[in-house]
Amino acid sequence: MQHNYSYQAALAASERIGWRVEDIIGGEKRLDFAKPFMPGSLAQVKQLSFLTTDEQRTLNQIRGHEYLAMFGLVEEFILPYVVDHARSQLSGDDYRVRALLQFAGEEAKHIHLFKRFRQEFEAGFGNKCDFIGPAEDVKRFVLSHSPLGVAIAILHIEWMTLRHYIEGVKDNQDLDPQFKSLLKHHWLEESQHTKLDTLIVEALAEAATEKEIDQAFQEYADIGGFLDNGIKQQTEFNVESFVQATRRNLSKSEREAMTAAVLKGMRWTYLGTGMTHPNFLTTVGQISPEGKKQIEAMAPMFC
Ligand SMILES: [Fe+2]
Ligand SMILES: [Fe+2]
Repeated sequence: MQHNYSYQAALAASERIGWRVEDIIGGEKRLDFAKPFMPGSLAQVKQLSFLTTDEQRTLNQIRGHEYLAMFGLVEEFILPYVVDHARSQLSGDDYRVRALLQFAGEEAKHIHLFKRFRQEFEAGFGNKCDFIGPAEDVKRFVLSHSPLGVAIAILHIEWMTLRHYIEGVKDNQDLDPQFKSLLKHHWLEESQHTKLDTLIVEALAEAATEKEIDQAFQEYADIGGFLDNGIKQQTEFNVESFVQATRRNLSKSEREAMTAAVLKGMRWTYLGTGMTHPNFLTTVGQISPEGKKQIEAMAPMFC
């Protein structure tokens, strides 16, 4: 353990930050479709030089819609996971109980926030964008794994969210202010989740046998593979949404180039940024140096 995370400090930070969905979206606060939604490092549309600037922005916004939907999807399994985890330890450490319930409450709020943004997107974009799911199936698959395996996957998700904001959004003046506000407010609360999930992973690993730890790393890889299959399917949906929205006739090679760029961008966004996050790797390396090596060997495929 090389950190000073505690349930008490995470709870105190969370109580200072607390924002409401209504403060962030609705009324005068609307998406500006004249601006990109996603930072270039995640959207990765600029290299598609056969697209006009407007078309690149449309594809960027389709990636923004996918981001809203993808977080809606993963938070649907994080919420019950945290509730179940908290349920098993409702006595003992009062700060732990309160911090875990706060964590769950924030994820429920994020599900609501991402839904509200999707409604605004759908009202303003003008075309329907398909998305993988349903969330119920994803939740059932992910939660069929051991608590430690799922906790490692969630730790990945929390760190990747922080990285998205810090590396691509924080100092970016080009993005739609409303979408940027969503990413900022999400980051503010996810900053506590990274710490709480690190504590959860450490506690579960401490109680686990070596065999259970090896199994958890295998499960993390299985959950990653499952998400990657979803990413492949979502890539096709995104390209189709682009064609519908722009009425552009893509040649075979242009469609292939767009499919490759979207797949690469999605893999980096949801898999690469988490698997290579130094803090994520430090925590998993302390549990299992071998497990960390396996993740490092997988990562280049998603970077
Ligand atoms: Fe969240
Ligand atoms: Fe979170």
